[in-house]
Amino acid sequence: MVMVMEKGWFLRWVFMVIGVMGYWGWCVEGLGVNWGTQATHQLRADTVVQMLKDNGIQKVKLFDADEACMNALSGSEIEVMVAIPNNQLAMMVNYDRALQWVKKNVTRYSFRGGVNIKYVAVGNEPFLKSYNGSFMNVTLPALQNIQNALTAAGLADSIKATVPLNADVYESPPNNPVPSAGIFRPDISDLMTQIVQFLAKNNAPFTVNIYPFLSLYSNEDFPFDYAFFDGVANPINDNGVLYTNVFDANFDTLVCALKKVGYGNIPILVGEVGWPTDGDKNANAANAFRFYNGLLPRLALNKGTPLRPGYIEVYLFGLIDEDAKSIAPGNFERHWGIFGYDGKPKFAMDISGKGQNQLLVGAQNVHYLDSKWCMFNPDAQDLSQLADNINYACTFADCTSLGYGSSCNNLDANGNASYAFNMYFQTQDQNDMACNFQGLARLTTSNISTSTCNFMIQINPSLSSSLRPPILAFLLVTLPLIPFL
Ligand SMILES: *[C@@H]1O[C@H](CO)[C@@H](O)[C@H](O)[C@H]1NC(C)=O
Ligand SMILES: *[C@@H]1O[C@H](CO)[C@@H](O)[C@H](O)[C@H]1NC(C)=O
Ligand SMILES: *[C@@H]1O[C@H](CO)[C@@H](O)[C@H](O)[C@H]1NC(C)=O
Ligand SMILES: *[C@@H]1O[C@H](CO)[C@@H](O)[C@H](O)[C@H]1NC(C)=O
Ligand SMILES: *[C@@H]1O[C@H](CO)[C@@H](O)[C@H](O)[C@H]1NC(C)=O
Repeated sequence: MVMVMEKGWFLRWVFMVIGVMGYWGWCVEGLGVNWGTQATHQLRADTVVQMLKDNGIQKVKLFDADEACMNALSGSEIEVMVAIPNNQLAMMVNYDRALQWVKKNVTRYSFRGGVNIKYVAVGNEPFLKSYNGSFMNVTLPALQNIQNALTAAGLADSIKATVPLNADVYESPPNNPVPSAGIFRPDISDLMTQIVQFLAKNNAPFTVNIYPFLSLYSNEDFPFDYAFFDGVANPINDNGVLYTNVFDANFDTLVCALKKVGYGNIPILVGEVGWPTDGDKNANAANAFRFYNGLLPRLALNKGTPLRPGYIEVYLFGLIDEDAKSIAPGNFERHWGIFGYDGKPKFAMDISGKGQNQLLVGAQNVHYLDSKWCMFNPDAQDLSQLADNINYACTFADCTSLGYGSSCNNLDANGNASYAFNMYFQTQDQNDMACNFQGLARLTTSNISTSTCNFMIQINPSLSSSLRPPILAFLLVTLPLIPFL
């Protein structure tokens, strides 16, 4: 008896130590990541959650309330922001519908050992100018209804509703482009004021997405070094406050806009920040590394910004590449991950932010499809349909790495065709029929990648590491016992 108890105690102690190492050993304390799932082939949710744990990541932001993700997060203690997509906001203007959403997607997981939900994101950048005001009338009522539904469920103290907003909801006038001149965008300033009032009343944070990469992308004249954190020759001087990077300047522009509507002290959470690695001349691993290598140490030191020194809750964007995202904003959209589509780290990033060289830990037990590629058939005679076939392949698969400034832009014409055909073939799970293209393509088992351009092998999502064997074993052992219980 005593022996058994001691064994149990010892094991619990071992697990506790392992748990503590897993949670606090590696990354910047309090760091979050965005877990988006718009990929044709997704890593298993339990594989992703294991990856979060292996990297010590304690917070995750989702873009919906996907059941597989929520189940995988269950019992992990990782803090979760669940979300209502923009196209469901109009429904949430109906309070009964909001009650149902909270019941199904929050309350159901809110038990000891369930999902540690901290926030509900109501919409995602609903006031982007490119949405033409489509969500202008529904966002605030949806926010109110969701927060009230959380209150009705007795969860208002622990779970807050917030609206992740794009940094284009505030600005400085062109004739005075300094943070202290920050105001909310004139066309939505009343609405923003009401939202801020509502958030403050409920002790909920203001959530903003800040993208130095987009500042650079959208403005040819943008001073390159100002997008990063390692200093600039000519800092912006805002009444004696010096700004050496656009992240701080942008964040403090928001602080000033909030101050002008009377809420200068409301907590601000950075819902997204990051740097893409392909799909544009400035999107590459070297620039992403430089960006994170500046950002993470600042976060680890709780440096904050000139107007808000101290800890800032930050969610990196994003965790894994998503090959099915819309490329309306640009080809880089499918390359935001700090991990590739298969959960491999893209660069040697020190996520401790403390120079401890705690490099990203990749996904475990990822299974790939066979090592075979689809390529341009050099024996093909009639090339008249080549362009149409490439076009077809790239309509249904991701060819963004072929574009100007991207990793595969230096291929020759045959290489371009091979790249497109292979992407299609892999997206179609290497179905033989998907490597024909009217005789213009053929299979190969030799790796046709070049030094800069990876011809990928897709993952086999049906076979990856899983909780399945232990759960099955558990069921097989316990099911026969049920009649006796
Ligand atoms: C719960 O969330 C899922 C995933 O985002 C969504 O499809 C579903 O409609 C939500 N359930 C309710 C009752 O609103
Ligand atoms: C917004 O308006 C522009 C120009 O009128 C149009 O091209 C675009 O499709 C619209 N976007 C949405 C989301 O309605
Ligand atoms: C929002 O409401 C205003 C005033 O009721 C109306 O004029 C406008 O068309 C509405 N916008 C949308 C996108 O529904
Ligand atoms: C390959 O494709 C890219 C992107 O479509 C294009 O910019 C490039 O000119 C093509 N190269 C050749 C040699 O056709
Ligand atoms: C193919 O070669 C590239 C470049 O050498 C390499 O990065 C990649 O891992 C290889 N792919 C496979 C499936 O071996």
